[in-house]
Amino acid sequence: MGQKYLITSALPYVNNNLHIGHLIGCLLPSDVYARFCRAQGRDVLYIGGADEHGTPSEVGALKENIPVEEYVDKYRAKHLDAVRDFKLSFDLYGRTHTKLHEKLIHELFNRLDSLGMIEEKSSMQPYSVNEKKFLADRYVIGTCPKCGYDHAYGNECDKCGTSLDPDQLINPHSAIDPSSPVEMRETKHLYFKLSAVQDKLRAWIDSRQNWPKTAITIANKWLDEGLHDNPITRDLKWGIPVNKPGFEDKVFYVWFDAPWGYVSISQAATDDWASWWKNPDCYYTQFMAKDNVSFHSVFFPAQELAMNDNWKTVDMLKGQNFMNFNGAKISKSTGNGIFLDEALNIAPSDCWRYALMASAPETDDTDFTMERFAEIVNKDLNGMLGNFVSRVCKLSAKNFGDTVPDGNGIDKDLEIKINEKLSDLTNALEKCEFRDAVFALRSLWAIANEYMTIKEPWALVKNGDMAGAAAALNECFQMIDFFARVSAPFIPDAAEKIQNIFENKHDLSWPTKYEHRLGNSEKFTVPENLFNRIELTEKTNG
Ligand code: MF3
Ligand code: ZN
Repeated sequence: MGQKYLITSALPYVNNNLHIGHLIGCLLPSDVYARFCRAQGRDVLYIGGADEHGTPSEVGALKENIPVEEYVDKYRAKHLDAVRDFKLSFDLYGRTHTKLHEKLIHELFNRLDSLGMIEEKSSMQPYSVNEKKFLADRYVIGTCPKCGYDHAYGNECDKCGTSLDPDQLINPHSAIDPSSPVEMRETKHLYFKLSAVQDKLRAWIDSRQNWPKTAITIANKWLDEGLHDNPITRDLKWGIPVNKPGFEDKVFYVWFDAPWGYVSISQAATDDWASWWKNPDCYYTQFMAKDNVSFHSVFFPAQELAMNDNWKTVDMLKGQNFMNFNGAKISKSTGNGIFLDEALNIAPSDCWRYALMASAPETDDTDFTMERFAEIVNKDLNGMLGNFVSRVCKLSAKNFGDTVPDGNGIDKDLEIKINEKLSDLTNALEKCEFRDAVFALRSLWAIANEYMTIKEPWALVKNGDMAGAAAALNECFQMIDFFARVSAPFIPDAAEKIQNIFENKHDLSWPTKYEHRLGNSEKFTVPENLFNRIELTEKTNG
């Protein structure tokens, strides 16, 4: 086995249906990268799953009037459908509400506690009098002291944008039970001494060579402002119970337990988990949207470093910007966006995979529209790749029967052109620069179409130059075989269809150079259209 690669995709909360923002934020880029690594024979552990804890699950369950367990199971089932339908090749798509995870969190907490990294502090927190429980800041509603808006949250006012503390609200009450007044009461919590890790973390950040600029900037901003100790417990019922006397009625803060889900899910996936997680030679890449970057670049690694147990820390942190839809935020409450349970009624998963990766919000927030989607699918997938494969197979079948016509060696000019773009593609994927990668892939398809246009094998046939036509078509078939390999991380279904064109099943390993793998007279069958055109109707128009 090759070098060890650990790949994780942020664990989405299970309080919502997944939408295309989740796909492009972490699920797809991580899957493309994992497939690319595996195709090179690397020893990959690719982990994802559900983040089941946190107030949103508790509140969501309350709204639907069902137990939290039932609520998270319901959404988790939908998430699993999406993982299957969009061909996300996780070694395990796990979850965080497990005994294994709880055991891990308890051990890790004890470790931090024994090292003197945990501190107890009392503070005043919003308490809902009728519900008899403490509330997270954003579940307190009241009148904004700045602008008078009567529906401001305990953490900020949506109207004037002021960030607030819950005790600043006038007439505070519970968002969950509006009849219940809220008052500030004293409660004690456990804090992680983040400030003690400041220098260690700074040195560690400075040693991260492969992070994109945005991730480094976010991490340094926290460090420059100085790290504060942060509370890791909450007065809630739903979550991992705190294993310390005096704190039995509390749970750990969701962001304390969730990132360690990567580890506990790895433990559930393989007994060999430590050969990734405790291995200094393993290369670890994390995928997430930008709102997750501070947790992954500061809080999680700070805990890992504080433990002094050789936990693998992230080498490459890929944070995506946000993807909007039709110019507005994707959101369940406004219904704006494409949700994954309906996306496949519009087009097959390969189309989404490719079009979204081609639009990855890598440098800025990006807007996605159905027009854009149709244009990408029609131009690139249907127009370039699909048509090429279909024209070559049909023309050849008509004139040379069901075997690949004889060639006479690789076309040198073509070889140079292809190898240039292949190296662009490989380098881009290595660096997780997906827009560049898609650009290089599309250029490869363009080279093939151009070759066909210049060679005009149909004209050669017409003029009776059958050897010339055969040679050109042979070269085209060799490119088709090559395309299955380089396209597979992006469009695995199409790659498999291309692979199945040939009677001999050639592997989809990642090529180091353009090469001819099809022997003379190899049998093939003309495939059905790889991609249908997308015609926008009112229904699919968003
Ligand atoms: N649940 C978080 C979100 O959806 C992401 C958690 S990532 C993890 O934004 F690593 F902490 F699990
Ligand atoms: Zn306000």
